[in-house]
Amino acid sequence: ESTFAMLKPDVASDTHTVDEIKQRIAEAGLSIERERVCRLSRRRCGKFYAEHRTRPFYPALLGFMSSGPVVMLELSGESAIGAWRSLIGPTSTETARKEAPRSLRAMYGSDNTRNAAHGSDSPASAAREIRLMFQK
Ligand code: TYD
Ligand code: MG
Repeated sequence: ESTFAMLKPDVASDTHTVDEIKQRIAEAGLSIERERVCRLSRRRCGKFYAEHRTRPFYPALLGFMSSGPVVMLELSGESAIGAWRSLIGPTSTETARKEAPRSLRAMYGSDNTRNAAHGSDSPASAAREIRLMFQK
């Protein structure tokens, strides 16, 4: 199975943190198939997060996601979608620290928006996100 992972602008520029996260990816039995570092335009972030366009946090989310470089990864492995979601932990840093203290969002996130990492939530979104973010 393949999934789309993204290390967000709050961690992507910190090479030490990126290396630690790659270590956790390997420990989870996941392989990095493709990697791309880039800075996303607001427009591209809007497309990526289109399902949230009516939510109150959407403008702040786009501002944050386009504020600096991101590391985009295609991961593969047994149940990769669920394995990566479980490694990153709950959306909110506060919940993550309570319920999954070893998760990436507990360890590296700061709040609901600056939460360190993204992971696809289904096979359909994994396919869409890989296509959207790795197209030339
Ligand atoms: P969502 O799909 O609910 O979470 P997840 O990333 O765990 O699938 O939301 C997408 C992103 O939107 C989330 O990672 C960060 C941002 N967001 C906020 O900024 N504030 C919020 O209250 C929520 C729910 C999400
Ligand atoms: Mg989501």
